[in-house]
Amino acid sequence: MTRVETVARALYDLHCYAPDNGWDTTHGKSRRGLYMADARCALKADDDTFAACRVCGAPTRIVADLGSIPLANSFTRDAPRFPVRVEVCDDCVLAQLEETVDPSIMFCEYPYRSSLSSTFVAAAKTLVEAQDVTENDFVVEIGSNDGYLLRHYQCRILGVDPSDVPADVPTRREFFTEHLAEQIRASHGPARVMHANNVIAHCPDPHTIMAGIKTLLDPDGVAYVESPHVDGLAWDTLYHEHVFYWSATAMCRLADKHGLAVVDAERLDVHGGSVRYHLRHRGVPTEAVLDLIGRESSVRWTLDRDMTLDCERLRRIVDRARRAGKRVCGYGAAAKGAVLLAVSGVDVDFVCDTTPGKQGQVMPGTDIPIVDESHLGYADVAVLFAWNFHDEIVNRVEFDGEWVMPHG
Ligand code: TYD
Ligand code: ZN
Repeated sequence: MTRVETVARALYDLHCYAPDNGWDTTHGKSRRGLYMADARCALKADDDTFAACRVCGAPTRIVADLGSIPLANSFTRDAPRFPVRVEVCDDCVLAQLEETVDPSIMFCEYPYRSSLSSTFVAAAKTLVEAQDVTENDFVVEIGSNDGYLLRHYQCRILGVDPSDVPADVPTRREFFTEHLAEQIRASHGPARVMHANNVIAHCPDPHTIMAGIKTLLDPDGVAYVESPHVDGLAWDTLYHEHVFYWSATAMCRLADKHGLAVVDAERLDVHGGSVRYHLRHRGVPTEAVLDLIGRESSVRWTLDRDMTLDCERLRRIVDRARRAGKRVCGYGAAAKGAVLLAVSGVDVDFVCDTTPGKQGQVMPGTDIPIVDESHLGYADVAVLFAWNFHDEIVNRVEFDGEWVMPHG
C-alpha cells in the first residue's frame, strides 16, 4: 500500500466502518460527511486514485470523466469551469462527484422554476392530495423552489430554499441542516409530512439533511425523498450540482445511520428515472425497496462509452445538417444541454426556452443565445436538450422541422 492508501485505510477503519454491525453510528451525523470530505481533500493532494464513499466510507473508483466544464446553470460566456469526474462505491452502488463546488456558488442565484413544468406541478398536486393531513398539521418542503408543491396543501406549511426564486409560500431562505431543523421544530413543532425532491442529490453533506429530517419529523410522520436513480443514469446529467446519484442501497444505509427507515419506494418517470423513497422513524421495507436493492448489484457503468458514442453521433447529425444548409437549434436551456454542448463541442445557432429568466442570456460558457419559443420556426433541426420532457414538449410545441434526441 502507498502511504496515502495506508492513511485512507486507517481513516476508513477508524471512522466509517464497524465490522460488527456493518455501520458505525457512534461518530454519526454530519460530522462524518464533513470528516470524509476533509480526508478526501487531504488525500487528493497526493494521490488521485483513492477516494472514499461519502455514505459508507468504502473506497471508490472513477467511472466517468467529463473534463472541465462550465457551471451548467451559469448563463454567461465566462461561466466558471470545474472538473466533473464521477466515482462509484461498489458497496452502496452510490455514484458521487470526486470534487464538489461550494453550493452557495451554485444555488443562491438559481434560475430554475419548478412551476414551469406542467408535469412537475401535476405530480406534486397528486402527491399532496394523497396525504392525510388536517388543517393544523405542519408540512415542510426542503428545496421548495417557487412553492409549486406546498401551495396545494390546506394546512400549515413552510418551505426551505436558499435560492432567490420568488415563492408564493412561506420560505426560510437557507440551506436545510440539522441545526435549522432544530430551530424549525422549536418554533413550529414537528412536521407530519416532509418533502425533499431532487435535493439530496445536490447536497455535498447528505448526513445533515438526513439528521435534520430525523429531528423535524413527527413520530408518526412520513418524509418523501426523491432523487434520480443511479441505474440508467444519463451522462449529460453529470454536472457540478449533482453531487450524488443515489441507489436504494445507499439511501437505506444513510437513513439507517440517522435512525430512520426507508419503508417504501416508488419508481417515477421523471429526470430519466427517479425514485421516491418513503422514510419513517421505524418500519420494515416493502418488496419494492427490496426489489430495487436486489437489482442494484448488476448496475452497469457505461457512462464514458455512452458519452463518446452520443457525442460522435450528434456531431455527425449536426455536420450533415449544416452541410445541407439547414439551421440547427437546441430546445430547452437545461443544464444537461450545457453539459452536452461543452462535452460534444457541437454548435447550435440558438436555444429556445420558455423560462423568462433564461431568455436573453447565453448558454453557459458560450455565445449561443437563449430565446423564447417563437424562434423555433427559424430552425430546421432542433436538438431536444430537455429530453426528460420529451412527451410534454413534442406534443405541445408546433415544429415542422426534425427533432433530434441527444441519446441515440
Ligand atoms: P430541467 O428539466 O430543469 O433540466 P436540467 O435539470 O438539466 O436543467 O430543464 C428543462 C428546461 O426546459 C428548463 O429550462 C425549462 C425548459 N422547458 C421549455 O423550454 N419548454 C417546456 O415545455 C418545458 C417542459 C421545459
Ligand atoms: Zn458506499
